[in-house]
Amino acid sequence: MHLLVINSSPYGRRGITAMMLMPFLEGIREAGGTSEIVSLSKLTIHPCRGCYTCWFKTKNVCTRKDDMAEVIARFRKADCIVFSTPVYCDGVPGQLKVMMDRLIATGNPLLEMRDGRTRHPAPPDYTPKRFVLISSCGLWEMENFIPITTHLRAFCDNIGFEYSGALLRPHSFAMRNSPVNDILHAAKSAGYELAKNGGFARTAADIVGREIVSCDAYINMINKKGEMYTML
Ligand SMILES: Cc1cc2nc3c(=O)[nH]c(=O)nc-3n(C[C@H](O)[C@H](O)[C@H](O)COP(=O)(O)O)c2cc1C
Repeated sequence: MHLLVINSSPYGRRGITAMMLMPFLEGIREAGGTSEIVSLSKLTIHPCRGCYTCWFKTKNVCTRKDDMAEVIARFRKADCIVFSTPVYCDGVPGQLKVMMDRLIATGNPLLEMRDGRTRHPAPPDYTPKRFVLISSCGLWEMENFIPITTHLRAFCDNIGFEYSGALLRPHSFAMRNSPVNDILHAAKSAGYELAKNGGFARTAADIVGREIVSCDAYINMINKKGEMYTML
C-alpha cells in the first residue's frame, strides 16, 4: 500500500498533528507499506477559477500553472490518501480546501446515480483509493471534530474514496507536556493495521482520542499560558 499524505499544518512535521502522523507512518512502514508527505505550506497552489476548462476543453488539465500538477501526479499513484490537518475555524485550513477544490481537474463531468445520489463517475485511469483523516484540535471536546469529519466523509462519497477511519486528537495542547506514549503507540498500530488489513480498529482511534487532562485542568492550563494576553 502506498500512501500520499497531505499535511496542511503550517508547522509541517513539527506540528501537534504530526505527533500522531509520524508513528502512524512508522506502522505503515513496518507492515511493508510506503508513504510520501506533501506539505502544503511549502507549495504554491492557487484557488480554482471555476472555469471548467479542465472538463470541457483540456481533458483533465488545469489552466493554472502551479504546484498542483505535481500533487495530482503523486495523487494518481497512491492507494490511500491521508489528510493530516489541524481543525481551523471548525473546518479544514484554507490551503487544504483550495487543494481539494483543485482536484476537480482529475474528475469527469458526466453524471450517474451511485448509492441513490447523483455523482460523477470515476475517470477511466482512476484506481480505487482509501482515505484516512489524522487531525488535532485545540478545544477540549471530541465534538469539535463533527464539522470536519462530516465534510470529509461527504467529500469521500463524492470523489469516490473509501473512508477508512480517523485518528482525532482533541485538547491537543496537552500533548506536549503529558505522558502520551500509549497514544503514539496506538497511532503506530493503526498504521500497521491499515497497511495489513485496509482499516484499523476502533480501539486504536479511541486511545488516540482519549482524555489527557480533565476539562477543568485544561482550561486552567490554557488560561495560565494566556495570562500574557490579558497584560497586553
Ligand atoms: C486559525 C486557527 C483556527 C483554529 N480553529 C480551531 C477550531 O475551530 N477549533 C479547535 O478546536 N481548534 C482550533 N484551532 C487550534 C488548532 O486546531 C490546534 O492548535 C491544532 O492542534 C494545531 O495543529 P498543528 O500543530 O498540527 O498545526 C485553531 C488554530 C488556528 C491557528
